[in-house]
Amino acid sequence: MDKMNVALLGATGIVGQTFIQLLQRNPKFLIEDVYGSNEKNGKLYAEVVQWNMNEPVPLEIASKKIKSLEEFERYRNKYDLVFSALPSEAHSAEERIAEFLPVITKSSYHRPLSDVPLVVPELNIDHDRIIEYQRKKRNYKGFIVSEPNCSSVPIALVLDALHEFSIGDIRVVTMQSISGAGINGISPLKIMGNLIPNISGEAHKISTEIPKILGTMDKQSTVINPNKLEIWAQCNRVPVLRNHVESLSMRISGGISLEQVKNALEKYKGSRNYTITKPSNPIFRLSENALFPQPMDLTYMEDEMRVLIGQLYLKDGIFSCVCTSSNLVRGAAGNSILHAEILEGEGYIS
Ligand SMILES: NC(=O)c1ccc[n+]([C@@H]2O[C@H](COP(=O)([O-])OP(=O)(O)OC[C@H]3O[C@@H](n4cnc5c(N)ncnc54)[C@H](OP(=O)(O)O)[C@@H]3O)[C@@H](O)[C@H]2O)c1
Repeated sequence: MDKMNVALLGATGIVGQTFIQLLQRNPKFLIEDVYGSNEKNGKLYAEVVQWNMNEPVPLEIASKKIKSLEEFERYRNKYDLVFSALPSEAHSAEERIAEFLPVITKSSYHRPLSDVPLVVPELNIDHDRIIEYQRKKRNYKGFIVSEPNCSSVPIALVLDALHEFSIGDIRVVTMQSISGAGINGISPLKIMGNLIPNISGEAHKISTEIPKILGTMDKQSTVINPNKLEIWAQCNRVPVLRNHVESLSMRISGGISLEQVKNALEKYKGSRNYTITKPSNPIFRLSENALFPQPMDLTYMEDEMRVLIGQLYLKDGIFSCVCTSSNLVRGAAGNSILHAEILEGEGYIS
């Protein structure tokens, strides 16, 4: 396949905009059409989008007319693949499209469903094997794969990197940026100079999604058995524009040293015998700098797929660290695009 022709749903939102920025730079994809809500149907993308990226709207996208989901059927033969950045309430549209086309969705609706893989590509790409079962069960020619919550991704990667140790009592406190709430998600009056100590539903997503991501497939590739790890989470919204911070702690038994933990993180290249990172492009970046990692550190880094880790301590069998990662790239569009590249390579998208 030369290029994958893409329909982008939810293209005017903050995740949709991130998709546009990343897809424009990626030679494997071509954005054919951008979809929004009915109110924006037929309007020029550049005229109605509240563009929030650090580069201007790409010209090819600026002049596209936004399409509505109601007319998707008419155009579906143009596409090889659909990226969805829709809210979870719009899940039935994704299901209709999956009857014919592969749908990679960022919305939370499908994540807990037993026949839908929930994938961090470097970690559990083998869960995609359930696609064949899903196709038969739902009579789909396409399929739906879902992508985890933006905070679940970095934590799942860290826990996977440390799986060789005996870990437990996992506690996470998140400090999540405003962009995580969507383009109109939170009023500046509520968040500036403030912290909101509960993001509705977020702790539940972290504690249920990670065991599924770290789970194992049965031999028939019809069931994903969740991992037994229990994860306690408390989620805060903070007045930061982009990038989330997670303060993570866990018990590590067996007399493991901090050096061993750091070494496991530094050498981590993903699991399941499927190494997809280049040696020059590790998943984690560790630093002992006393002020690392801050959300701004990612703004200056080229590769927003990385998870920055600092403040590493191990005392009395309790390991703690602070992670920073891009909610929009690592936790959303970047994860989906990497997933699509692998799905295409494995013959699921044709
Ligand atoms: N923001 C993050 O960091 C993040 C991270 C991980 C996952 N997610 C998930 O990714 C999805 C998108 O999030 P977001 O932050 O980009 O949200 P957003 O900024 O609010 O964007 C939502 C998009 O969906 C469109 N839309 C809303 N209702 C629709 C409907 N009924 N039919 C068709 N289109 C509709 C909107 O179009 P209009 O502009 O026309 O209204 C907009 O393009 C959500 O499921 C969210 O939970 C977000």
